[in-house]
Amino acid sequence: MAPSQGEHPAEGLSPAFLELLEAEPLGEQTVLDVGTGAGRLALTLAPRARAVVGVDREARLIDEARKSAAAAGLKNVRFVVGDVEVEEYAPFKPDMVVAHLCMSDAIAERAGRVLKPGGVFAFVAFHNDQWKETGRPSRFAYGEVGAKRLLRKCGFAVDTLTVEREVAQFETVEQGLAAAVALREKWKQDGRWFRYVKFLEEGGRTLTRARLVVKARKA
Ligand SMILES: C[S@@+](CC[C@H](N)C(=O)[O-])C[C@H]1O[C@@H](n2cnc3c(N)ncnc32)[C@H](O)[C@@H]1O
Repeated sequence: MAPSQGEHPAEGLSPAFLELLEAEPLGEQTVLDVGTGAGRLALTLAPRARAVVGVDREARLIDEARKSAAAAGLKNVRFVVGDVEVEEYAPFKPDMVVAHLCMSDAIAERAGRVLKPGGVFAFVAFHNDQWKETGRPSRFAYGEVGAKRLLRKCGFAVDTLTVEREVAQFETVEQGLAAAVALREKWKQDGRWFRYVKFLEEGGRTLTRARLVVKARKA
């Protein structure tokens, strides 16, 4: 999650998502990045925005983000430790709320309460099909219908909603296992690994990554 040394902070961010954000008048806006992690998105937007605030509940990541901002000489970005599903966003006075792989109903509700008409809420979230071969969608995943319903409920009109999908295809069980090796320990803990192995052993030969990329505007 943290940009490693020499790596551009935008590494791993969806180019389509960045394009949606860059189409907005960022230079006039304060952007709130919820679940900022080590600040990858916040640091990418800061050179173009009036101001950026990144919030994450992991103090270690916030510390890392602050160090990266200082190293890059960015003066218009600050990082705060906080719970973005509990705290309200008004103290940050955002014109735009962004969330990259940190999305929930509580976040959309808070964005809906803080943004003025025309204000943008943009996010990348896991799609329900993410890792569907493991038989267990992420609790942070949304489908197109669910995301649209939530946004409407929170007072947003959808500007753009697309699904970015990559389906890796394997010829053998071993190739399938190798493709998920970095996830093995995490998946063993959450029960996905054994389901994925079963899927491969029963002849499955795919692994799906799918993300929703969304820009919505407060009505
Ligand atoms: C998958 S990471 C994405 C980080 C960052 N947006 C990026 O793309 O590099 C999700 C982040 O959301 C944070 N997070 C999850 N729930 C949170 C909450 N309720 N309040 C604050 N941060 C939260 C985690 O600590 C983690 O850093």
